[in-house]
Amino acid sequence: MTKFSFALHKTDGAARTGVISTPRGEIRTPAFMPVGTAATVKAMMPESVRATGADILLGNTYHLMLRPTAERIDRLGGLHRFMNWERPILTDSGGFQVMSLSDLRKLTEEGVTFRSHIDGSKHFLSPERSMEIQRLLGSDIVMCFDECPALPADRKRIAESMRLSMRWAQRSRDAFGDRPGHALFGIQQGGLERDLREESAEALKSIGFDGYAIGGLAVGEGQEAMFATLDFAPSQLPEDKPRYLMGVGKPDDIVGAVKRGVDMMDCVLPSRSGRTGQAWTRRGQVNIKNVRHQDDPRPLDADCSCPTCRNYSRAYLHHVYRAKEMISGMLLTWHNLHYFQELMQGMRDAIAAGEFARFEADFHALRAEGDI
Ligand code: GUN
Ligand code: ZN
Repeated sequence: MTKFSFALHKTDGAARTGVISTPRGEIRTPAFMPVGTAATVKAMMPESVRATGADILLGNTYHLMLRPTAERIDRLGGLHRFMNWERPILTDSGGFQVMSLSDLRKLTEEGVTFRSHIDGSKHFLSPERSMEIQRLLGSDIVMCFDECPALPADRKRIAESMRLSMRWAQRSRDAFGDRPGHALFGIQQGGLERDLREESAEALKSIGFDGYAIGGLAVGEGQEAMFATLDFAPSQLPEDKPRYLMGVGKPDDIVGAVKRGVDMMDCVLPSRSGRTGQAWTRRGQVNIKNVRHQDDPRPLDADCSCPTCRNYSRAYLHHVYRAKEMISGMLLTWHNLHYFQELMQGMRDAIAAGEFARFEADFHALRAEGDI
């Protein structure tokens, strides 16, 4: 059986390209992971998600434990079979979502008690329970159970939270055990502070993980502060393991993160904004709700090869959005996911060719021209 492994093929400055191998298939890096929170990438069939170029999806412990429950998914053959996606799945561990979505949370050393945002029922998550749920789901890449404050937060709060997450990382490692073909990733915390990030990286490295995530960013600090942190955080993590920036981001965030040495990212942005009439293109954002599109026979992006741009006009996309037709979310999500994956392929090719700086300059120049 293929074990989990990472091969770094080429670097260009801090940017890297390579391949993660898993028993369920390869993940080309830098990789963008579409979010399939509730066992679906909303508005997309799994074969369509694959057609956009995705190698891996993200699923959520928090949502799936509440509905339909991890035990039910296990009885039905695991998350891959349940949602008809046979390629790799990474699952987030639940702590972060508890903090942002649930009601009446109570945090202790042991774990977190909370009420479901769906029906108010009471639940408990700990490192041990999160590892059990992610095992029942059949996740290929399991995330440590962690915790993180929204920014800005004071240094004492950030340090205490980071140290709790590092104790939970050790408990996650112990509970995960030895599962060939499945990977466990640690999550670095420490806010925007170099020394706290360093302490966190050292704690994770001494425990030992198959990959290392950068958590606690894109939580309100802004792009400049995030990039300033990414100027040092990736290099604090092992060079020979994948580095995953959690919850990022907009296309320019993604390009800036890859430039600074990030290998994997996930974000709801392309799928969520597809359902609210927002399209992302090489020339920036297009708001399909705008009346300027109502008589426009041109595609969203004449140079895009996605099914939406090959077959439908801006006028049609505007119409189905206004008429609240379901195809609106489907067509815009497909285009957005296609654009994000094309952006990743462009970066992988540019890094392989040693031309990342030129790629980045072209990326910003085309966006500066704006939509036409
Ligand atoms: N998603 C975005 N940021 C984070 C984080 O810091 N931790 C976890 N577990 N998930 C995230
Ligand atoms: Zn398109």
